[in-house]
Amino acid sequence: MKFNKVLALYFSPTGNSRKCAVSTAAKLGRKVEEIDFTKISSVNTEIEFNVNDCVVFAAPVYGGRLYKEFADKIRKLNGNLAKCIVIVTYGNRDYEDALLEFKNLLIERHFIPLSLAAIVGKHTYGDIQVERPDKNDIDKCYILAKEFLNKIESGKFSIPNVKGEFPYKDGGNGGSFYPSTSSKCKKCGLCVIQCPKGAISEKDFSTIDTQKCISCFRCISVCQYDAKIMATKEYREFADMFSAKLKEPKEDDIFV
Ligand SMILES: Cc1cc2nc3c(=O)[nH]c(=O)nc-3n(C[C@H](O)[C@H](O)[C@H](O)COP(=O)(O)O)c2cc1C
Ligand code: SF4
Ligand code: SF4
Repeated sequence: MKFNKVLALYFSPTGNSRKCAVSTAAKLGRKVEEIDFTKISSVNTEIEFNVNDCVVFAAPVYGGRLYKEFADKIRKLNGNLAKCIVIVTYGNRDYEDALLEFKNLLIERHFIPLSLAAIVGKHTYGDIQVERPDKNDIDKCYILAKEFLNKIESGKFSIPNVKGEFPYKDGGNGGSFYPSTSSKCKKCGLCVIQCPKGAISEKDFSTIDTQKCISCFRCISVCQYDAKIMATKEYREFADMFSAKLKEPKEDDIFV
């Protein structure tokens, strides 16, 4: 089957999910069109999907679930029976019900998820598996793509079982760590533009609206001057404890 389009649709504040989505989609034999939902509060969900499209979805695990506002955006899509690959990336703790939730949401919206995976990525907080997703993880994405193509070739559109339980656990919220801004700030405004929630003041780039901020740390990862930081003693203590606790590397899970 020749795909009409290959799309990579992701929510990815610190880039792990994007990397997995784009790497997987690149193996499907057509130019990849990216649909970036990271600026989640201003995302337009009026997208036309076609039965012959292939969509690679990817998003991070937040508290064992999908981030709620991302899940709400998925609820507005109409898949028109497009086939899809589904990936959650998680920070070496656990992905709990997130992949099952993603799969079920997409089925409800008339997508057909044929291959699914939970891939380990650097955790947003602390120093946990900082090089991941690495080559081995991306190789798993390639296997995912290959198995997906096998299914398409054979016309066997079976939807795999994945880990997770319904009713889902509570989760899907942001955190409560709010970055500060050091004197290295060059006032370039990139963090303001890139913040998924529009939480950074356009007038004063060091002011964050804590009602809006979800602690995704995108502002820290995009700042080229290392000026957005987590400097509090409380955060450092938490990060050290958390990093020690999650030191042992976890495996990726693939469901095909
Ligand atoms: C608010 C929040 C909650 C998180 N919850 C979990 C979790 O429950 N389990 C886990 O292993 N990692 C968790 N993480 C880590 C992310 O899932 C992980 O770093 C992910 O790969 C980030 O994806 P991205 O780079 O595409 O944004 C959490 C991160 C944040 C910011
Ligand atoms: S991206 Fe960094 S340097 Fe630019 S405004 Fe934000 S904190 Fe300042
Ligand atoms: S201000 Fe908060 S929501 Fe915005 S990018 Fe930074 S951590 Fe994420």
